[in-house]
Amino acid sequence: MNPPQLALSALTKSFRQRVVLDHVSLAVEAGQRFSIQGPSGTGKTTLLRIIAGLEAADSGSVWLAGKVATEGAKIKLQPWQRGVQMVFQDLGLWPTRNVLQNVMDARQAAGLPHVKEVSTQVLVALGLGDFLKRKPGKLSGGEARRLAFARALAMEPKLLLLDEPFASLDPDARHAGFELLEQVLDQTSAAVILVTHDPEEATRLGGSQLRLVDGVLACI
Ligand SMILES: Nc1ncnc2c1ncn2[C@@H]1O[C@H](COP(=O)(O)OP(=O)(O)O)[C@@H](O)[C@H]1O
Ligand SMILES: [Mg+2]
Repeated sequence: MNPPQLALSALTKSFRQRVVLDHVSLAVEAGQRFSIQGPSGTGKTTLLRIIAGLEAADSGSVWLAGKVATEGAKIKLQPWQRGVQMVFQDLGLWPTRNVLQNVMDARQAAGLPHVKEVSTQVLVALGLGDFLKRKPGKLSGGEARRLAFARALAMEPKLLLLDEPFASLDPDARHAGFELLEQVLDQTSAAVILVTHDPEEATRLGGSQLRLVDGVLACI
């Protein structure tokens, strides 16, 4: 049997004596979907950042496809070696690079083949075919979001981490954002963890619904 795509084992993290994650354990199989809800400031972003390798833990471990990626405070696999992509509310686009370059640079950095071809295909699939030469600053909010997803997909992640990607949007735009997400999920076999404030989004995503409260991750 294959090891899970992601395994968290008794992951613990505190900031200034405040326990944010208290022995969190979880197994995510290839292609599985999870949502995580929970009050603001409860540690959801911290959990995703530790999975992505952007932050160390205090103790416990993160395993990716059977390889230890984080062991306590030791980052064993760098973020770009993990096959994990994260999309934040703040999209983190590269402002001086145009739409196509944003995606190509990412795919190139991941060492994947057919950089221009695949990057163009992904952008066209997400409705950005007419904007390839445009800089991110000249895109609408919805288009910029498409670009962030396109860039994540072009890196062919095994695991997609989505940190409240639609939280700042009004209800209509959030609805459109979720439709985009469904389109994105059709294009990938990656496992997904979606952090969301919105129980309706969690239900629409399907899969397993979790809640993080007082450092403990529990099924809803
Ligand atoms: N680098 C940091 N230094 C100190 N405290 C932090 C740091 N990152 C997060 N925190 C604190 O940890 C708690 C959890 O933050 P976060 O993971 O962003 O919560 P959530 O995403 O659930 O809103 C918050 O109280 C936040 O202030
Ligand atoms: Mg957060």
